[in-house]
Amino acid sequence: MNDQSHFWNERFGKEGWMYGQNPNAFIASQAHRLAPQSHVLCLAEGEGRNAIHLAQLGHHVTAIDASDIGLAKAAQRAQALGVALRTLHMDLHHWEPQEHYDAIVASFIHLPQPLRTQTFTRALAALRPKGVIIMESFSQNQLLGGFTSGGPKDLEMLYNPRDLEMLFAQHPCAIIQLTEEITLLDEGWGHQGDASVVRLIIQKE
Ligand SMILES: C[S@@+](CC[C@H](N)C(=O)[O-])C[C@H]1O[C@@H](n2cnc3c(N)ncnc32)[C@H](O)[C@@H]1O
Repeated sequence: MNDQSHFWNERFGKEGWMYGQNPNAFIASQAHRLAPQSHVLCLAEGEGRNAIHLAQLGHHVTAIDASDIGLAKAAQRAQALGVALRTLHMDLHHWEPQEHYDAIVASFIHLPQPLRTQTFTRALAALRPKGVIIMESFSQNQLLGGFTSGGPKDLEMLYNPRDLEMLFAQHPCAIIQLTEEITLLDEGWGHQGDASVVRLIIQKE
C-alpha cells in the first residue's frame, strides 16, 4: 500500500461518506454536455459520488482511484442502486490510458507535480475528438485566503488558473471555462463551508 492509498483508505474506512452521496454540484451542472450513453472516466473518484450520478444518467462510467476502500464503497453502492460502474484501483502514476472517452471528470483531484501535468496530458490524449474534461478543485486561494472548508495544506497541491491555462495552451484543445470562484460547499463531513475553487472545462479539438 503506498502513501496515498493509506491516507485515503483511513478516511474512506470511516462510517458514512466523506464527501456525501450527492455529486459535486459543478460536475452535476455540466452533465448536460454529455451525449446519451457517453463513455466517461472519473479520475481520483474516491467513494464514487460523481461516477454513480453519471451512471444513473445512463452513461458508461469507469472510476479510477488509489483507494481500494473508496472504490469498494462505490461499487457496493452502485450495485445496490442497480447501475453499472467499472472501478480501476490504480495510482495515477501508473495510469496509461488504453481506451478513449467522451468525457473525463474529476472533483478535488489534488496531485503533486509532475504527476498533475502528466495526468492532464494523458487525460487529453485519452479523449475522443470533441471530448471534454470537467473539473472542480480547490484553488491556492483556499489556503492563502484562510478558507477552512477542506483541501490540502500544501500550496503546490492546489490550483491556480494561470498554470492550467499554460498547460492546456500546449495542446489542441479549447478552454470553455477556466474560472476561480468562491462557492459554498455542502459535501459530507469533508467539505463544509465557503471555498475557493477552480472550475475547468476543456474541449479537445
Ligand atoms: C479529496 S478526495 C476526492 C474524491 C472524489 N473525487 C470526490 O470529490 O468525492 C481525493 C481523491 O484522490 C485520490 N488520489 C490522490 N492521489 C491519487 C493518486 N496518485 N492516484 C489515484 N488516486 C489518487 C484519493 O484516493 C482520493 O479518493
